[in-house]
Amino acid sequence: MALVRGADRLVSPLSTHVALIGFMGAGKTTLGNEVARRLDRPFRDIDDEIEQTHGPIWELFAQQGESAFREIELRFAREALSRPEPSVVALGGGAVETRDLLDALDVVVVHVDVDVDTAWRRVQGSPRPLAQDEAEFRRRYELRAPLYSAAADARAGDADDVVLAAAGVHVERGSIHRLGELVPGAGATSLVSDVYVAGIHGMDAQLSLGPRLRQTHELPSGEEAKQLPALDRLWQELRLDRGGTVVALGGGCTSDAAGFAAATYLRGVPWVPVPTSLVAQVDAAIGGKTAIDLPQGKNLVGAFHWPARTVVDPALLETLPPEQRREGLAEVVKTGLLVGEALWELSDDELVRRCAAFKSAVCLRDPEDRDDRKQLNLGHTFAHALEAAAGYRGLTHGRAVALGLLAALRLSGRPTGEVERLLAPEPVRVDRELAWEAMQRDKKVTDGELRLVLLADDGPAWDVPVPAADVRVALDELIAG
Ligand SMILES: NC(=O)c1ccc[n+]([C@@H]2O[C@H](COP(=O)([O-])OP(=O)(O)OC[C@H]3O[C@@H](n4cnc5c(N)ncnc54)[C@H](O)[C@@H]3O)[C@@H](O)[C@H]2O)c1
Ligand SMILES: [Zn+2]
Repeated sequence: MALVRGADRLVSPLSTHVALIGFMGAGKTTLGNEVARRLDRPFRDIDDEIEQTHGPIWELFAQQGESAFREIELRFAREALSRPEPSVVALGGGAVETRDLLDALDVVVVHVDVDVDTAWRRVQGSPRPLAQDEAEFRRRYELRAPLYSAAADARAGDADDVVLAAAGVHVERGSIHRLGELVPGAGATSLVSDVYVAGIHGMDAQLSLGPRLRQTHELPSGEEAKQLPALDRLWQELRLDRGGTVVALGGGCTSDAAGFAAATYLRGVPWVPVPTSLVAQVDAAIGGKTAIDLPQGKNLVGAFHWPARTVVDPALLETLPPEQRREGLAEVVKTGLLVGEALWELSDDELVRRCAAFKSAVCLRDPEDRDDRKQLNLGHTFAHALEAAAGYRGLTHGRAVALGLLAALRLSGRPTGEVERLLAPEPVRVDRELAWEAMQRDKKVTDGELRLVLLADDGPAWDVPVPAADVRVALDELIAG
């Protein structure tokens, strides 16, 4: 997925429509239907709607000519894109030639890309008026290709790409070198980075923000970034006005803390995470949750604040220490189990793209964690209980999640071999009673049952009641000694 325009526009992914543009035969309808299903939004196909009212498009063309048809197309598209409920809209192949229409598009515009041979194969023999003559078809393709590029915010080859564009997530190797154009708006930026990451990738980020960079700020590495003293310092250092943007370069601790600073500074300024750890690229920087910790527990103060854009550069993972990679792998395996595909076998670029797209879709459907976003907690109720029982020391989140996934699979009646092979979870030495108490604090026992995320035959299920005694047995199996 590549962003080709839009650096000058600020749109909120939660409320904007997704408009698909692209040549005849690009597959806008198929993709649009799939994306609408994944985002739980209505899908509207402008060509279809025109045909329902006016009859076949080829007849309209023959009787009234192309320009009259474009007028009608414009009217239908305007109507669809001005509805308050965000939807996925497939525009006609020629919509892009109507300048008026593009100016009216306050939406995320995604170019569904197709090569001319595939497009011709798909439409040849159909009654479409512009698909009758192959030479003419190819000529039009050449003419339109640059128009689509200029009009689109992003280019997509599949549904994951469209979902990412809808969420404002840009995944591209080398994108750290294009921050100046990828950070929306034209205002100043404050670059907030983890002190350690700043030493490795900070200069690249600064150079690519260029004249838009106003200030740089450093946060301590790791969870210390999410403590009040670090936040207090950052709030006091920031000099942005409301037209400025916070850019957060680092792992999940940086994005949680800098995102929370952006959510609260001046009652909220836009922010752009540039995640550098695997945990952050597949999880923490996606979905708009920001938070800091209190002495009483992790993530207790925070805000939902969807990024203006998320810039994911998988090349940054090359400098990640192996133990941090393992942390991220636990979340990748979790995502793979939820999707039902071995995502962990893919290359970094593809694995990050797929995981980020999955989380983006879930969070766009349920941004405030009221319903199916809960599925992202697969294995996490156990993990949190073990981490609490360990006093948040000596047991990393990734290791705890690996154990939690084992328990969730066992309770789901699923084989655990894959998780054991990939994550090699070792039972942890913690107090059993402390762990069980923590588990019950997290998930109240009602009528002798706890509600957990499990994997059912048709995919993930959440709020599944499980007898407390069974949960206790599954928890005990994760504890050594
Ligand atoms: N907001 C959310 O939805 C969400 C989701 C998951 C996790 N989180 C939070 O994320 C945090 C964990 O994130 P994390 O695992 O990324 O931790 P982190 O931010 O502490 O990064 C881990 C370590 O890796 C180093 N590092 C990061 N990128 C690097 C790179 N490219 N090269 C070399 N070193 C690099 C960092 O300096 C740090 O020492 C937790 O606080 C967790 O609560 C939030
Ligand atoms: Zn996690």
